[in-house]
Amino acid sequence: MEFGVWTKGLATLSVDCLVLGVFEEAQLGAQGASVDAACGGRLRKLLARGDFAGRAGDTLLVSDLPGLGATHVLLTGMGPAKQLQRRTWRKTWAAAAHALLRTRIASCAIALDRPDARELDDYYLGRAVAELTGAALYRINDLKTARKPPPPALKKVLAGPVRRAATTERGLAHGEAVAMAQSVQRDLANLPGNICTPTYLAEQARALAKRHTSLRARVLDEAAIRREKMGCLLAVAQGSHQPPRFIVLEYQGAKKSPAPIVLVGKGVTFDSGGISLKDPPGMDEMKFDMSGAAVVIAALTLAAQLRLPLHLVGLIAAVENMPGGRAVKPGDIVTSASGQTVEILNTDAEGRLILSDALHYARRFHPAAVIDIATLTGACVVALGHHHAGLMGNDATLVRELLEAGQRADDRCWQLPLTEEYAEQLKSNFADFANIGGRDGGAITAATFLGKFTQGLKWAHLDVAGTAYQSGAAKGSTGRPTALIADFLLKRAAR
Ligand code: BES
Ligand code: MN
Ligand code: ZN
Repeated sequence: MEFGVWTKGLATLSVDCLVLGVFEEAQLGAQGASVDAACGGRLRKLLARGDFAGRAGDTLLVSDLPGLGATHVLLTGMGPAKQLQRRTWRKTWAAAAHALLRTRIASCAIALDRPDARELDDYYLGRAVAELTGAALYRINDLKTARKPPPPALKKVLAGPVRRAATTERGLAHGEAVAMAQSVQRDLANLPGNICTPTYLAEQARALAKRHTSLRARVLDEAAIRREKMGCLLAVAQGSHQPPRFIVLEYQGAKKSPAPIVLVGKGVTFDSGGISLKDPPGMDEMKFDMSGAAVVIAALTLAAQLRLPLHLVGLIAAVENMPGGRAVKPGDIVTSASGQTVEILNTDAEGRLILSDALHYARRFHPAAVIDIATLTGACVVALGHHHAGLMGNDATLVRELLEAGQRADDRCWQLPLTEEYAEQLKSNFADFANIGGRDGGAITAATFLGKFTQGLKWAHLDVAGTAYQSGAAKGSTGRPTALIADFLLKRAAR
């Protein structure tokens, strides 16, 4: 895909299609009005007939209007004019891109009305155009044997109108990288558990490091994990025939070697629940339980691709959680790498166990910040649904940075409290603490558990159980929160 910016002469641009916005009650936007003038009022005439009302997301393709360089105009509904926000604009372009991809149109110029620059500036316009085009182009990596549909015709997208073309071009380049990273996440997460095993994830990390000299991969096998005394991670892994892997992906793009940002990913390649076996309905979706790991790989790919001036470390705890004769049992007590003992009361609360050892491992890097990403709790889905990821942490600045990154990237998260009272619920008679805290506040008690291993670190936790994948007809990985993490990294790289 070729991205660029158009600067003037919308009506005479030689592209196949102009993408124009129509507000509710068939009101042409400012860009549309200029095109309408060039084609002798044909657009207004069409709208006056009531053929297109401008409802958000609706599109209408019109061809062969006189007086235009383009052969087509795609009218796209933007909803009410006074509610124009970044999210509306993004939804509009996403709808237009999907509509264009159903045609043979090869090039287009976007001339949708823009919200206020505080809502969507020149840079984020570019980001949104490239990222959403990439998302529209994404094809699920299914294993269907039927012939794949032909490649899309769309080859060139021009963004506009903009004030500073160079700023938008930078946004386009970054947005393209974000889309690429999202597809890395989605492809990995969509793979079934019998293909995407801990060993497979480790191989992918190694292959990635081979492609970029700025990336180094180290993989700890079971013996090396044992040497690190990661008793919690090993307890989860012991029920499976798939051996665990602990993956360290290091990106060095900074001149000096500053304290790194450490990203920690939950890599449960399949979560059956273990002895505390899950109910059958929807259990297949627990192949997505390595989404956090996929985000970490995606983020490091993006950093390497954009050569961000950052020092990053990705840590992935990769295991399969299975029942079996050797599996860990409710009541078993294990010792984590930090030396703290844990009573495993429910083997389905495995994510926090593997993350606790990974978070402890992060200490050796003397990190500037540690962020873990995990499909951690069903309770987070109950609390927040599927629109916001759960965010908790022990550092107000880091938490605020992530909240703002999520806003800008339209990949939002919502902070839940993480105060000391919740620790009560993790009390155990037999070990330092238990791995579950009861039903109430389940997303928070899970984070509280993680907090036992991050004292003294600047740490934040993203619970993406409700956002990393979708169920139902569109079942599959969503690519979230890769855009959030990318935005956070890009901001850190710029400071
Ligand atoms: N991977 C699940 C969390 C999950 C649930 C992700 C639903 C996506 C959708 C996690 O390992 C888990 O099983 N958590 C338990 C914890 C409980 C036993 C305290 C849960 O949420 O039920
Ligand atoms: Mn589980
Ligand atoms: Zn899990």
